[in-house]
Amino acid sequence: MRTIEWKDDAENGTKKSAIAMIDQTLLPAEYRVIECGTIPALCEAIETLRIRGAPALGAAGGYGIALAAQNSTASSFDQFMHDLLAAARAIKQTRPTAINLAWGVDRVIGAVRESGCGTTNEAREIALREASAIADEDVTRNRRLGEHGAALLADGETVLTHCNAGRLACVDFGTAIGVIRAAVEEGKEIAVVSCETRPLNQGGRITVWELAQDRIPVTLIADSAAGSMMRKGLIDRVIVGADRITRDAVFNKIGTYTHSVLAKENGIPFYVAAPKATFDSTRQERDIEIEERGPDELRVLEGTMLAPVDCAVYNPAFDATPIENVTAVITEDGVAYPGRSESWGRLFV
Ligand code: MRU
Repeated sequence: MRTIEWKDDAENGTKKSAIAMIDQTLLPAEYRVIECGTIPALCEAIETLRIRGAPALGAAGGYGIALAAQNSTASSFDQFMHDLLAAARAIKQTRPTAINLAWGVDRVIGAVRESGCGTTNEAREIALREASAIADEDVTRNRRLGEHGAALLADGETVLTHCNAGRLACVDFGTAIGVIRAAVEEGKEIAVVSCETRPLNQGGRITVWELAQDRIPVTLIADSAAGSMMRKGLIDRVIVGADRITRDAVFNKIGTYTHSVLAKENGIPFYVAAPKATFDSTRQERDIEIEERGPDELRVLEGTMLAPVDCAVYNPAFDATPIENVTAVITEDGVAYPGRSESWGRLFV
């Protein structure tokens, strides 16, 4: 199945809708599909990273509004819109950094508003149609993005990636991993080095699992091994995804900035692969809130203490990479070179 899907079940003659998703907190030990039938359940799934990755969060946001529309028992259209806006606020509050989440929510709310429809049944249909379009477009966009990016990779190269920007971070195919997938589909031999991505290990748990399923050679490393591998000439290129791109910075999983500095120091191209929905044309680095997560992600691992129980912890989920450190940004429209190509400017209109 896709990472996230809409599900309609008939139960005793009553329609019951839910958002089905692969629970990414359980991978790689267990592959389990869960269903969120309410907005609180969806918010919990987003907060705990059962569903994660910027494009997948865009789809979750869109489906979330479709779910709120299906579940609303409002007797008037005004009350119905009130229910949708309450769901929108709750979903957007879960994770602040990835722009795609709010984008998906706003796109579905906008579609309902702009349709001018006056009945809740019509609005339900419009919301679900728009949310499904977000999900479908993600897959086609990622395939196009992958083809553009594959042209940058040469046969026999080794690519380092951080976190998971694969099919599980999207509805399907992936962005950074999509570029690698597309190159492999073209017949190129590409080896991947996946950083484990502490503290939640999306690189080890999800990227390695995903690539192994596709039989793409992958080696897991500790995050701190990346620099020495680059210096030894073992890495040809770095490709990462993004949670938000402003004119001056790329926001992605914590540790991305460090890789960009090391790539620059060692003369290695540093690419960012992201759909245009990830671009933020109205804000700059200083305006963006970086999500901070709980201290126990660093202090405890499955009941084992990794640090003194009460030690102070700083646990940002993302960092900002200055745009000067980025060699190229790959989108569904092609490859843009920050500050140097006309296509870069067009991404922010
Ligand atoms: O905290 P996560 O797992 O949601 O963080 C995900 C990332 O940082 C990804 O690299 C990013 O969302 C791009 S996914 C195509």
